[in-house]
Amino acid sequence: MAAPSDNWIKTPSTNSSGRIGEGVIIDIGTGDGRYVYQSARQNPNKFYIGIDPNARPLEKISEKIHRKPAKGGAPNVLFIQAAVEDLPSELDGVANELHVHFPWGSLLRAVATGDVVVLNNLRRICSTGALLEVVIGLDPVRDRSEMERLGLTQLSVEFVDRELIPKYAAAGFQTIERGVFTASEWPELNTSWAKRLEGNERRAITYLIARAS
Ligand SMILES: C[S@@+](CC[C@H](N)C(=O)[O-])C[C@H]1O[C@@H](n2cnc3c(N)ncnc32)[C@H](O)[C@@H]1O
Repeated sequence: MAAPSDNWIKTPSTNSSGRIGEGVIIDIGTGDGRYVYQSARQNPNKFYIGIDPNARPLEKISEKIHRKPAKGGAPNVLFIQAAVEDLPSELDGVANELHVHFPWGSLLRAVATGDVVVLNNLRRICSTGALLEVVIGLDPVRDRSEMERLGLTQLSVEFVDRELIPKYAAAGFQTIERGVFTASEWPELNTSWAKRLEGNERRAITYLIARAS
């Protein structure tokens, strides 16, 4: 195992040494690609793949990665336009780490309800032993209409234990750690939405870290 990278949500187990995967890191719902880009620049020996069905926010960064490294390039990055429901078969078994940060829409619904098809898709692109990190930030007031539309309730630890962990296990993900951070405990995460949502006192972060068995 490689030394722990800085690119995980800081929890008791990700802060301890020797647990973080190496190799190919896939970020699903990558948004503007900030997490992938920054992580790739910090870890030139790892390969990062950012995936999102919406290519527009990735236009700028897709150009930037092709520059020389001294000018901000990142040859260890690939962006793919795809939805989690329809991941290319070329990715099967490729990921050593898989991240889903601040999902929205159908991606949020899938990881927050334990959708069988999507969890199986996530497992399909993981190598055995790969680590999955899901980080969800919801504000029960501001996000109420989206939560109602998606059929979501607030994601308490009890909900994760009762509803999600068994579904993730059925798809081949053994949960190592889960929890909820309140707004005052907001963890450092290098994604655009982590920065955008920080500072809202009602918004909690629910996270789950699992290993592909
Ligand atoms: C709130 S943004 C978060 C972006 C980024 N992960 C971050 O933390 O800054 C949610 C992202 O999920 C993506 N998304 C929504 N549905 C998706 C799906 N079915 N498959 C993959 N990505 C999806 C959206 O296009 C959007 O970029």
